[in-house]
Amino acid sequence: MEFNIKSGHPEKQRTACVVVGIYEPRRLSEAARRLDDISDGHISFILRRGDLEGKPGQTLLLHSVPGILADRVLLVGCGRERELGDNQYHKIIIQAIRTLHETGSMEAVCYLTEMNVRGRDTAWRIRQAVETAQSTLYLFDQLKSKKENTRRPLRKIVFTVTSRRELNIAEQANREAQKIAEGVKLAKDLSNLPANHCTPAYLAEKAKKLCSLHEKLSCNILTETELRQEGLNALLAVSNGSDQSPYLIILEYQNGKKNAAPIVLVGKGVTFDSGGISLKPAKDMDEMKFDMCGAAAVLGTISAVAELQLPLKVIGLIPTVENLPSGKAMKPGDVVTSLSGQTIEILNTDAEGRLILCDVLTYAERYKPEAVIDIATLTGACLVALGHPAHGLMSNHNPLTNDLLNAGKFSCDRAWELPLWDDYQEQLESCFADVANIGGRDAGAITAACFLSRFTKKYHWAHLDIAGTGWISQPKKEKGATGRPVPLLTQYLIDRSRDETPVTAAVAAPADKTATIAATPPAAHEND
Ligand code: BES
Ligand code: MN
Ligand code: ZN
Repeated sequence: MEFNIKSGHPEKQRTACVVVGIYEPRRLSEAARRLDDISDGHISFILRRGDLEGKPGQTLLLHSVPGILADRVLLVGCGRERELGDNQYHKIIIQAIRTLHETGSMEAVCYLTEMNVRGRDTAWRIRQAVETAQSTLYLFDQLKSKKENTRRPLRKIVFTVTSRRELNIAEQANREAQKIAEGVKLAKDLSNLPANHCTPAYLAEKAKKLCSLHEKLSCNILTETELRQEGLNALLAVSNGSDQSPYLIILEYQNGKKNAAPIVLVGKGVTFDSGGISLKPAKDMDEMKFDMCGAAAVLGTISAVAELQLPLKVIGLIPTVENLPSGKAMKPGDVVTSLSGQTIEILNTDAEGRLILCDVLTYAERYKPEAVIDIATLTGACLVALGHPAHGLMSNHNPLTNDLLNAGKFSCDRAWELPLWDDYQEQLESCFADVANIGGRDAGAITAACFLSRFTKKYHWAHLDIAGTGWISQPKKEKGATGRPVPLLTQYLIDRSRDETPVTAAVAAPADKTATIAATPPAAHEND
């Protein structure tokens, strides 16, 4: 899909379709009013007849509207003007894009980005419109032998802004959005791929391929032998039951100051989680192919960061294994010595994510990081606690928590904090080792994070539990990966990079646009 930005009058657009909003009840948006004036009241006549009330998501496609240059006009219901918030806006954009795609308009000029959205500015509206449009048209059909062919698919869309003065800001937002959307798509594609295709070796190959595309990106893959030499025994214990070789994928993006402390992203890459000897029930076990959504999010984010050429140092660490039962598999009661030296009693082999992560979190110490963020489909308990809307967020550093929460709010990829209090640590006591890998039924998402916190004492760390947000499990059409939290993480890194920009550069920058961007502190988003 091609996205462009423009400012100009709707009646003058020579295009397959002009898209304008209608508020409830039957009230014209600014762009709709212009079309109405030019066409001698054609639109308000149709509304008076009762064809469209303006409820959010309603659509009406008009042909041959007098006095305008476009072939069609698409009216989109936007709900009550005063109530137009984030969710409503997304819904409207989704409906508009779907309708365009299905009704043969291969290109369109869309005025919905000119409407006021509560607490949001032009840049935000463009960003969300582009990202939402891209994900609305996402289709995973790699493994279907007969592809569904849309006869006249939507190929090109222009989003408008109200004045020429906004063009620069909107174009910048458009560029950012497209890079983020690409990262989201990469994450979705990897996550949707089943475990017989997406193995640990496949993920490693993909990482190498990504690195070959970007000069500032390099890649190192640690093999099983090297992992043994290094002493990542907890990770190796998980992979023991599988015939697939484990890997630690190390991505390095360097576009920052020479000795800058990096931000490290750690993604759980269990390409299939059967539970191991503590075998999971059969129902919905297919969904455990998604247990590498954290890994996919790290790859997607690093792709976006590299495309955006952010002036940062970012390290991606992806432990990738398969968790299966076999004669070689780890067993309940086994005790392993982790890379940190702490011994772990494996009371449940299905709590494998924390085992691969803990070693890699220790490994991360060697980068002397500014911050470490791990992303993992870690606990069913997090899904129970927060459902689909929010990632679970737990951290040992408040400023990092705030930055991530804010990045989530701005990118509409929200996280919610759960307490990481010491009070929960006692649930992890073990009779035979330093720590047990499970903490009982209560507060499962928190005790999992508590387990990880024992390996992250040397740096600022945050944990995102994406068990409820990484994919949607509704049957058939909607089922699949979401690409989250690529938008949150990329926004966090964009904010960090703005923070890093030296003050002198911000002052010296010629255009006012650049100056504003460089001077914006990360936590200063509107609508907080
Ligand atoms: N990958 C799962 C977590 C999961 C389960 C995510 C269902 C999304 C949906 C993880 O490895 C796991 O099995 N966790 C166990 C932990 C328990 C054994 C302490 C869980 O949540 O049941
Ligand atoms: Mn598991
Ligand atoms: Zn798992």
